[in-house]
Amino acid sequence: MPRVSYAFFMAAVVYGLIGMSLGIVMGATETFTLMPVHAHINLLGWVSLAIMGAFYALAGDRAPRRLAWINFALSNLGLMVCAPMLALLLLGNRAVTPILGLSEVTLVAGMLVFAAAIAVTAMGKGRARVAAASQAA
Ligand code: HEM
Repeated sequence: MPRVSYAFFMAAVVYGLIGMSLGIVMGATETFTLMPVHAHINLLGWVSLAIMGAFYALAGDRAPRRLAWINFALSNLGLMVCAPMLALLLLGNRAVTPILGLSEVTLVAGMLVFAAAIAVTAMGKGRARVAAASQAA
C-alpha cells in the first residue's frame, strides 16, 4: 500500500478518535452546542479521509502521487482550521467567520484535487504509465 494511504488512514483514525471523544462528552454532559463540530470531524475527518486513502490504496501506482499528497495536505489543513473555527462560531464568536470561510474553501480545494487524481488515474496518466512510457522511449 502506498505511504500516502497510510497517512490518510492514520489521520482518519486520529479525527475519528477526536470526533468520538467529543460525542461522548456531548452525551455525558447533555450539551449539544458542538454537535455540528462532532459531525464534521467524523464525516470530513474519519469518513472522507478513509475513503480517499482507500482510493489511493486501490489505485496503487496508477494514481498520481503528487496530487495525492496535495489532496492530503489540503483536506487536513482545511479540517484542522475548520473544526476549531466552527466551534468558536457556535460558541458565539462571529469574528472567526472569514477564517472559517477560508478553511471551507481549502476543504473544497482538497476535494477538487481528489477529483483530479481520480480523473488522472482513470485516464491512465498516473505514475505506472508515465514510468512505462519513459522506459519505452
Ligand atoms: C463514540 C462514538 C460516538 C458518540 C459517542 C457520538 C455521539 C453523538 C451525540 C451525543 C450526538 C447528538 C445526538 C442528538 O442530540 O441528536 C451525535 C450526533 C451526530 N453524530 Fe455522533 N457519535 C459518535 C460517532 C459518530 C460517527 C463515527 C459519526 C459519523 C461517521 C457521527 C456522526 C454524527 C452526526 C452526523 C450527528 C448529527 C445528527 C443530527 O444532526 O441529528 N457520530 N453523536
